[in-house]
Order: sequence, then C-alpha cells, then structure tokens
Amino acid sequence: MSNVINSERIPNNVSLGDDKRLQRALEAWQPNYLKWWLEMGPSGFQNDNIFLRTAISVDSDGWANFDYVKMPNYRWGIFLADAVANRTIGFGDHMGEPVWQQVPGEHRNALRRLIVTQGDTEPASVEQQRLLGNSCPSVYDLRNLFQVNVEEGRHLWAMVYLLHSYFGRDGREEAEAFLERRSGDQEKPRILGAFNEPCTDWLSFFMFTFFTDRDGKFQLMALAESAFDPLSRTTRFMLTEEAHHMFVGETGVLRVCDRTAKVMAESKKDHPDDLRKLGVIDFGTMQRYLNLWFSLSLDLFGGEISSNAANFFASGLKGRAREERYENHRALDAFKSLDIPKDDGWIKEDEPLRNAMNEVLRDEYVEDCQRGLDKWNRTIASHGISFQLTLPSRFFHRHVGTYSNVHTDPKGQPIPREEFEKHKGEWLPTEADTAYVQSLMSGPVFDPKQMANWISPPKQGIRGRAIEFEYVRRES
Ligand SMILES: [Fe+2]
Ligand SMILES: [Fe+2]
Repeated sequence: MSNVINSERIPNNVSLGDDKRLQRALEAWQPNYLKWWLEMGPSGFQNDNIFLRTAISVDSDGWANFDYVKMPNYRWGIFLADAVANRTIGFGDHMGEPVWQQVPGEHRNALRRLIVTQGDTEPASVEQQRLLGNSCPSVYDLRNLFQVNVEEGRHLWAMVYLLHSYFGRDGREEAEAFLERRSGDQEKPRILGAFNEPCTDWLSFFMFTFFTDRDGKFQLMALAESAFDPLSRTTRFMLTEEAHHMFVGETGVLRVCDRTAKVMAESKKDHPDDLRKLGVIDFGTMQRYLNLWFSLSLDLFGGEISSNAANFFASGLKGRAREERYENHRALDAFKSLDIPKDDGWIKEDEPLRNAMNEVLRDEYVEDCQRGLDKWNRTIASHGISFQLTLPSRFFHRHVGTYSNVHTDPKGQPIPREEFEKHKGEWLPTEADTAYVQSLMSGPVFDPKQMANWISPPKQGIRGRAIEFEYVRRES
C-alpha cells in the first residue's frame, strides 16, 4: 500500500502485482470494460484529446494530474485512501471492535448487495449521459461532462476491485453483470429507478449531477463508515472525485439561473413565452426540472422504514454520514418521528431509530441540497428578480417508500390522484418543456471562444486556464 499510484497496466496503489490471481482476473475484465466504454460511453468523442485530471496519488493535496488524454486511454485503476491505523468499528452492535479486513461469512450477501447496488449506478450514469456531448453549451462544459464520465467509469473499477478481491466467483459474475445491464433497457435495466431515467439535455445533466450525484455522495459517506475496511477506504477516495461532479451540477444550474435572471432584468420581461423567444430557460421550467430530479433522487435512499437499513447499521456494514458527529452510536433506545399518511393528512409516528436510518441520511441530503438552492436564489436576487427556486416536499412525487402510495402537491399536501394528474404539468416537466429545452441545445458549441445563449460563462476556467482554453481538441 502506497500513496503513489503506480503505472502498471492497471494503475493502483494496492500492490496489485503481488497478487497474481487478482491481477489476472482484473486484466481479464479490463478488455470487457473497454468494450463497454466504447459502446456505451460518450458518443462521438473517443478520438479527441480532452484536458482531464487523472489520479497520481491518494494524498488529499495534489492527487491529480491535468493533461490531454483520449478517453479510451484514461488511466482507470484502483485507488484506496490510506488505511487508518488501529481503526475500530464506529457504530452498531460491534462498536469498538477492530474493523474487518475480510468479509465475515454472515455478512457476505448483504455486503455484496450494497457494493453491487452502488457499483451499478456508476456505468448507468455514463450511459444516461452518452449523447450529451453532441449538444454541449461550450467546450468548457464538454470537458466537465467527460471528466464526470471517466470518473464514474473509475468508480465502477473501484467496486469491481472489491467484488473480485473479496467475493470469489460470485463477485466475478457480478462484475460481468455490470457490463451487461443497460440504463433504461426494458429487459436488463439498471438496478435503481433514477438511473433508468433519460438524461437527454443539459438542464437534466446539471440537475442530475446536483441531485443524483449528491445521493451518491451521501451513500459513499455512509459506506465510508463501514466496518469492512476495504470498502471504507475505497469509498473515501471516491468521495474526492464525487465532489467535482456536484460542483459541475451546482455551478451549472447557477449559471443557467444567472443567465435567465440577467435577460429578465435587461428585457424587463417575465412571461415564459417572452423568455423563450429570447432563448433562455424560464424559471417555471427550471422549477419543474428541479422537482423531478429531486424527487427521483429522494427515492434512491430507500424506504423510510426499513429493516434492511436497520440490519446494515446493526451489523456495522453501513453507518450514518460522519458518524462521529452523533452521540448514540448504537442507535438503541432512540426513535425518529416520521410523518405517516393517514386519511387525508399526516400523523406523527415514532419509529425505532435503526429502522429509520434511510430517513436520517435523507435528512442530511435535503439540508445539503437546500444550501445549493440558497446560492442559486442569491444569484437570481442579485439581478433584482424576485423568483425563488424551492425544494418540493419530500412527500411529493415519490415512487419508493411510505409516500409512494399518496399523491401530494409540491408543498406535501395530500390530494386525490385526479387532482395530481390535472396539475402535473405545472409541477413536473411537460413534453413541451423538454422539447423547448432540447431545441435550445440542437447545435453543440465547439468554438472555445463561444458560450450558448441560455447559460452564463463560468466564473473561472480549470486549473488556472482561461475559460476560452481549448479543453477539448477535436480530432474528428
Ligand atoms: Fe460515482
Ligand atoms: Fe458522481
């Protein structure tokens, strides 16, 4: 184990060369991965030189190297954060015992399931985003898309490493299955709902990287607490990459807000039809996109009341994000108050805390999302525009858990199904919204000096380069 990532055929900092069996197994998976990447990865840019960052060490400062690389030559590999000496289990029934370097037999199935569920999201998002390059608003954004894509590919490698190393033949089969499922495919879909939704325009992409990648952040934070030390170390390094994905989402939506608010202030117009004539995305449309991606992402945390979540916590497989901030690490003799639908309203019910762990994580997620919205709203207000984007209630438009059987308005007020259907077009993107947003993006912007009309330029370029820097050198 070293901080520095070596330059073997599969770059790694886990002394892969010392474990010939594992090395051979991963080298056998590598060409299949590459085949999947070429078939399902970014469409049309595989020959281009992209200004990408690559991990060269796992030190928190200076882990990345920036240079031009063709995506198929990206150095995907296996990078684990440093081991913490004498680390002990921080929560659950085994609190205080040494962490595990191998998978205990009794937790094998549950751990495999956690790793497979996380791993499946990584290639799924690459598939969802594969056509977006052809409608990019700028070369800067195009490069950011590809950076996210190659890192999601790297996250797949991270999970495949765990499966190959610790789960024998089952693990190898799961690693193959990652390359066989396809986002949105009827026959062999990806495991989780949001990862089968189409992400066919850049507003969706920015919402996805803000809301859906943020679910990833919180799942990784909970797994970073795991008693299974290799999982903890793997996810800790993934979090350093994940931060960039959320930066892309947060600043992407912020720049769209900035542009729309600016055009509204200059033109003194606020009707969506007028704004659409001016070629910007009206805030009503933005709010509907936000409602969609927020609600889809809330579902990813799983049911509000979950015996699986309780078992994961009890056995030490999955903790809470930043577990050290909590006091009661066993989460026994504690309850969480939940809103349960009853008749036409809600009643409060106390649920044993361990059963409500998904909701605990979701609470933190919602709070984190709100911070981003506050920034967007400050940007809108800075142009003297009074519109505010809001998070819908967590009861709204849910398909998983306690709230999946009720219809509510975005404020969380229960309403009959007919009422929901009647107003759906005010609350969720309509076909006309999507068609309009896509019409804005019908032509890609490949001139580094240009920026699409519907989005403001970023505050700064990447790694000290100008915003107009040629982040993508097109060869084709
Ligand atoms: Fe990821
Ligand atoms: Fe991500």
